[in-house]
Amino acid sequence: MSKKQKIIYIKEIIPDRVKNNSVLNISTKGVTSLTHGFHKYPGKFIPHIPRWAINKYLNGDKGTILDPFCGSGTTLIEGVLAGHNVVGIDIDPLSSLISKVKITPVNLKKLKEIADWLVLSIKKAKKGEFKPECETINHWFTKDAINKLSIIRTSINQIPGKFGNRKSIKDIQDLLVVCFSSIIRHVSNADNESQKTYVSHTKVKNPKEVYSVFFPKLELFIDRITKFTKLINSDVSAKISCTSSNKSLHQKFKVIKFDLVITSPPYIKALDYIYNQMVELFWIGDLFDLQTQSKQNQKKEGYIGTKHLRKAKFKDYTPYKNIFGINRLDEKLQEVFVTDKKNGHKHSFVTFKYFTNMEKHFIEIAKCICKGTPYIMVVGNSTVSNIYFDTVDFLIQIAEQSGFKARNKWGYEIKNRYMRFDRKGRGGIIDIDWVIDFVRK
Ligand SMILES: C[S@@+](CC[C@H](N)C(=O)[O-])C[C@H]1O[C@@H](n2cnc3c(N)ncnc32)[C@H](O)[C@@H]1O
Repeated sequence: MSKKQKIIYIKEIIPDRVKNNSVLNISTKGVTSLTHGFHKYPGKFIPHIPRWAINKYLNGDKGTILDPFCGSGTTLIEGVLAGHNVVGIDIDPLSSLISKVKITPVNLKKLKEIADWLVLSIKKAKKGEFKPECETINHWFTKDAINKLSIIRTSINQIPGKFGNRKSIKDIQDLLVVCFSSIIRHVSNADNESQKTYVSHTKVKNPKEVYSVFFPKLELFIDRITKFTKLINSDVSAKISCTSSNKSLHQKFKVIKFDLVITSPPYIKALDYIYNQMVELFWIGDLFDLQTQSKQNQKKEGYIGTKHLRKAKFKDYTPYKNIFGINRLDEKLQEVFVTDKKNGHKHSFVTFKYFTNMEKHFIEIAKCICKGTPYIMVVGNSTVSNIYFDTVDFLIQIAEQSGFKARNKWGYEIKNRYMRFDRKGRGGIIDIDWVIDFVRK
């Protein structure tokens, strides 16, 4: 951001028309209201953005909203609250579960019955049966935490046996799994704030006792989902698909007519979502077949922007041979190739692959939506191997070659760094998220 840029302060509602290239400072009151605050998730955007797009483009008419990188479901919550149908896509299974739980109303009578039973079952138990498949579990948790987490997970597992297999019971069980997952980082030895999962030896943590965190959290979940359930119209439909957003979407969704797309894709050299969720995956990874580190590592390769690529994937890559076709972007990739010799030129390949995947994504979405459909994308610029990438402008060029037209672009200041990326010297701090207002040509 240029130092002279004038900032426009917004207290509540973003106006429909925002001047091209202007930068807003949006008051972030209420970002964790209702189900929004159920689970920490890196790279979340503020609900104000989907709220703005929905008001502007759907304006009272019931429509269907797609978020192809839905993360923890911010767009989807705003969509169902406004009475629209929603479809969320994310490659990450934990994010897909969090999103599902955040937008699924539950049977409130059954919830109370199951929650009362759960509290008693936990209080009665001395030992749990559930054992994480992790040899270093004692590094991550105290003995007391391991025992109590195991008791909670074992009790949650018993719900179908006690209450049946109906969908309404499964929805409540999923809610309780997410509630359980949301406390794990706090009761572990791992740093609470970092986007990387590690135990700091300089800043030693005194983890909180498990039940003193879980029981109040359970109350909060019950209170929030109760309020949410009462607000949702029964004719709203919500679908989450745990899949990749740059492959075969038009076959999968050919019967759905999308009226609005709102999303924030990963950044170049994206955060390692699975590494970020490591302590949670020790305790619930079995639900997604991600309980071991080798399974987790295999999964990482499908994420757009990932740095987790085997050497074999980029050993033959050079930005002189593999041309993207946008001159300024190809020059930048060549600069990174030169500066990043020490990593075997990996970062140049990671960046090339990021833009190639985003191009595939635009082509795929263009096949799923009709002419005139708005596509709102939130993304930031970043630095790779000390080379600044105008990601926003490159994505605009790529989208314009893939069936879209950019109508407007404006930014807002990022307030909570956990919501975005702590990229320090490596990826470059992102101060502004840019909202690109595309339309399908
Ligand atoms: C910036 S986050 C989205 C956060 C979301 N807006 C929210 O508020 O929670 C980007 C998401 O893209 C997902 N992602 C990465 N690669 C993907 C792919 N190939 N297909 C679908 N989703 C992908 C990540 O798992 C992550 O959840």
